[in-house]
Amino acid sequence: SFLFFIIKIAILMRKRAFAPYSNYRVGAAVKTKTGEIIGGCNIESSSYGLTCCAERVAIYNAISKGFNQFNSIAVSTKNAGYPCGACRQVIWELCDDIIVYICNSKELVKELKSSDLLPNPFNKSFLK
Ligand code: THU
Repeated sequence: SFLFFIIKIAILMRKRAFAPYSNYRVGAAVKTKTGEIIGGCNIESSSYGLTCCAERVAIYNAISKGFNQFNSIAVSTKNAGYPCGACRQVIWELCDDIIVYICNSKELVKELKSSDLLPNPFNKSFLK
């Protein structure tokens, strides 16, 4: 079946996950406004709380490469899991109201927006 390239990359990134504690492998990819696709995977620690989610690894990877405008993010897990609360905040703040593709290990399952995942967000306007 036809898959957007960003979805293929998110699915492929699951293979790079380092998840020996949860065995829950997550792949993610962001698409920049200029068309680059940059991936990430979850990376766990024996000190569990140090674990980094795939979505944040993908976004920080892209930002560290010099990209800061995004169109969409794709996330792949075995069972089309949703981004955690921390990642919802980071997606909203660093990517704006982008398309979020929720995928299982093979295909797109649901398409939504950052604002669907995080209504009434905290943001920098409250810091003024
Ligand atoms: N995980 C992600 O990578 N993204 C999410 O949005 C949910 C959770 C990872 C963290 C941990 O390595 C594993 O999934 C189980 O929680």
